[in-house]
Amino acid sequence: MKKPIIILNYKTYTESLGDKGRELTWAARDLMRETGIRIIVCPQTPELHHHKGYDIEVFAQHVDPIEPGSHTGHVLPQTLQACGVTGSLINHSEDRMPAEKIKQCVEILRKLGMTSIVCAESIEKVKEVSAFKPDFVAIEPPELIGSGIPVSKADPDIVTKSVEAVTDPNVKVLCGAGISKGEDVKAALELGTVGVLLASGVVKAKDPKAALKDLVTFT
Ligand code: G3P
Repeated sequence: MKKPIIILNYKTYTESLGDKGRELTWAARDLMRETGIRIIVCPQTPELHHHKGYDIEVFAQHVDPIEPGSHTGHVLPQTLQACGVTGSLINHSEDRMPAEKIKQCVEILRKLGMTSIVCAESIEKVKEVSAFKPDFVAIEPPELIGSGIPVSKADPDIVTKSVEAVTDPNVKVLCGAGISKGEDVKAALELGTVGVLLASGVVKAKDPKAALKDLVTFT
């Protein structure tokens, strides 16, 4: 079976703050070295530079489609790059943005050589945003986020239909929401995605390192 891509979203959990967050990043890096599986971490925005230089890809949880200038409180793509960030989630269920801004974010990241992962809450949204040619589209039914009920089991059809909805072979499909175990990752691959987005199943686990290892047990 092909190796998955695993995107670990730290969200704004206290469990992913400071040293706890860095320990998670180091554990993900070590697991990547052991297994050859591509793991990408998404720390909290103010802490992104604390995860630089650890030989693992660091993505932002959000980016704004702006150029340098007077944009108080926004996240400038070039500043992300300066923090060692090489990509970003866009339009996450918990941080939605209008379609036009999603399109602009994808274009700006592409120009900067950064990777874009656009989150979508429905098959229709997958169709709409995949036309912007991001590197990845992630289908994440909001009602399953944080539920511990894996989308790959709870609603496999939305995953397969999302894969079918993306006609551009350069746009890869991920799925997320409720993913926590190796069997969930395996199911996601069997449904045609290239990997998963997850957060609470690892970040809020009693033993995050053990939860990380479990994600790759099926390989
Ligand atoms: O970005 C992935 C996230 O929204 C999924 O959340 O806690 O269900 O893994 P969770």
